[in-house]
Amino acid sequence: MEPVLQGTVALVTGASSGIGAATAAALADQGAAVALAARRRDRLEALAATITGKGGTALVLECDITDQRQAASAVDRTAAELGRLDTLINNAGVMLLGPIVGAPLAEWQQMVELNVLGLLYCAHAALPHLLRAAETGPRQVADMVNISSVAGRAARNGNGVYSLTKFGAGAFSESLRQEVAKRYLRVSLVEPGATATELASHNRPEVLESIRNQFGQTMAAEDIAGAITYIVTRPRHVAVNEVLIRPTEQER
Ligand SMILES: NC(=O)c1ccc[n+]([C@@H]2O[C@H](COP(=O)([O-])OP(=O)(O)OC[C@H]3O[C@@H](n4cnc5c(N)ncnc54)[C@H](OP(=O)(O)O)[C@@H]3O)[C@@H](O)[C@H]2O)c1
Repeated sequence: MEPVLQGTVALVTGASSGIGAATAAALADQGAAVALAARRRDRLEALAATITGKGGTALVLECDITDQRQAASAVDRTAAELGRLDTLINNAGVMLLGPIVGAPLAEWQQMVELNVLGLLYCAHAALPHLLRAAETGPRQVADMVNISSVAGRAARNGNGVYSLTKFGAGAFSESLRQEVAKRYLRVSLVEPGATATELASHNRPEVLESIRNQFGQTMAAEDIAGAITYIVTRPRHVAVNEVLIRPTEQER
């Protein structure tokens, strides 16, 4: 049987590590040609080599999506070089935790620029392509999957601005979902709990020390990739709007 995503094209932001890398590999396994966007070219090239080694198609896009022009160019190059765009996985993100009082402003700027503006720049550039794919594509449906977090559902002491960015992703996704539902562009929100990736490693040493005991059991990036793959492989009449996914032992 032909893989479900055969003939479609997916762009994954933050594809150089963690959830994005696992998702790009999983979508390629389902037959999608994948565009891999992030800043670390060597990581993207290694992933592309694995995908093409298995007979898939991968396009490396070295870019910083906090720069609007680079974000738009990543989307445009995907459509131009792979021929179309059916699926956008808005995954790139950064999580810089710690108290609000006394926090370095640069950390807030970095989170808002990537988790909010980077996501918006990619969404803005991708929407015309996704709507066209939903109209004319082989599956007659297209997908935008935005990666939020458990922190996008509940704000807690110590995750104020990260939560702010993820609540924003949730609000944007739900509004856009309602706007484009009848045009068969499905907009989904994925809210992972603790997942073993590089995400926490960018925190200041004192923050790392204080959060060390917060994260017990973790999921693997492949667990989240599996949820994303489930979403984008549903038949045309089924839209998985939201997935909250935690390690079994994670209470909140
Ligand atoms: N891990 C968790 O526990 C967890 C839980 C909930 C939600 N999430 C969310 O899941 C998403 C993926 O995170 P992850 O856990 O897989 O962490 P990760 O391994 O640190 O991945 C983050 C990705 O974002 C990319 N990135 C960072 N800055 C970028 C920029 N300016 N332009 C383009 N790409 C950029 C990174 O690549 P480069 O450095 O090469 O650019 C990397 O590929 C994030 O949105 C995160 O908030 C993660």
